[in-house]
Amino acid sequence: MPTDVPSGEPPRSEPTQTYLIPSEARDLARDTLDLAAIRAAEFPWTDTTIYLNNASIGPLPERTRLALEEFNRRRCAPYQLPDRDLFAMLAESRRLAARLIGAAPDEIGLTINTGFGLGIAARGIPLEPGDIVLVSDKEFPANVYPWLRLSDSGVLTELVPTTPEGWPDEDRLLERLRDPRVRVLAVSLVQFSNGYLVDLERLSEVTRANGTWLVVDAIQGVGQIPIDVSRTQVDVLACGGQKWLLSPWGSGFVYVRRELISSLSPTITGWLAFEGTDDLSQLTRYEETLRADGRRFELMTLPYQDFAGFNPSVGLLLEVGIERIREHLAKLHRPILDWADRTETRIGSPRDHRGSGILCIVPEGVGDAHRRLKAARVICSLREGAIRLSPHLYNTVEEMERVVEVLERGPQTNG
Ligand SMILES: Cc1ncc(COP(=O)(O)O)c(C=O)c1O
Repeated sequence: MPTDVPSGEPPRSEPTQTYLIPSEARDLARDTLDLAAIRAAEFPWTDTTIYLNNASIGPLPERTRLALEEFNRRRCAPYQLPDRDLFAMLAESRRLAARLIGAAPDEIGLTINTGFGLGIAARGIPLEPGDIVLVSDKEFPANVYPWLRLSDSGVLTELVPTTPEGWPDEDRLLERLRDPRVRVLAVSLVQFSNGYLVDLERLSEVTRANGTWLVVDAIQGVGQIPIDVSRTQVDVLACGGQKWLLSPWGSGFVYVRRELISSLSPTITGWLAFEGTDDLSQLTRYEETLRADGRRFELMTLPYQDFAGFNPSVGLLLEVGIERIREHLAKLHRPILDWADRTETRIGSPRDHRGSGILCIVPEGVGDAHRRLKAARVICSLREGAIRLSPHLYNTVEEMERVVEVLERGPQTNG
């Protein structure tokens, strides 16, 4: 990458500190999360507020805030941000995104959100009039509207009813996959409204066998649920950074399985999407060949400042380990589940291995209970008639016990 300005230090995404307490067995897998350290250093505001709303917006860790400030400081005098540093930073973002999901960096294209990646799938997958896209009913709209709009080219979107509990009906989806007109199955890794973790392996086995495209909206899962596309075949996966990846709005990525990249035509053509376009000294050569990797889907210029934040945030998650985060979240759910059992309160999320970090509860007078939590500085969402609790790596069991205390005050003692 030619540049005629001096390079500063490349924006950093290296871990500055680890937050694991070594196990006596000196076994990394058994090391535990040092919650006091991570809260004090990365999320210092947690001493006053119980934040259980990652399924809406993930907080930025301190290392990310500092990286953003440093980036913006240089942005004020852009000669301090030479192209080669910016390009190296995006390459690092692709590498980190790939590590999160078990992909290779060349299968990643950087995007500004989930919807952009889903749009690449909806408009790029070669479909014919009469083809059917299967989507579970009650999916988040970002994974519904792009498919519905394909009616303008005669493609039908079939919303498959959920089970009585509100989960995607996987048996029914599998049955419908036998219909040769079904060309795409689009699902969320984790449902936004109840935390259901889809049985991706089961669905993938069938889509793989019959050549149906499997498209995954992964924003509610990646960062809290281990996923490995090198083991479980997925064709397209779209993810925004703003929730479980604790990253700025404007950062995200799309994964396209290597074998399919050339059959997926980019919806919108970026000016760096072609082979040879890295040479900014010869921009008007107008290359003909689209890149053979995920960068063909990127729409430059990307929001660099957001990826300057994405890198340290994802670095933190990888440093701690997604498996460890998943285990931690299951522990955090315990006090709430015990309380629900004691009080016969309905839990709106799966309680078995199909559960995720999102836990929905439906206490009596749900709106009132939500208000009480808010008044007690417990931040969470009301979604589809339930209180949605979505803790992350920095939350503690004591915080969840505090939630129980507030809920136990009951509907009449509004405090
Ligand atoms: C399942 C799911 N998909 C997508 C989104 C958001 O999409 P985008 O990143 O395009 O804003 C959300 C939440 O906002 C979501 O819960």
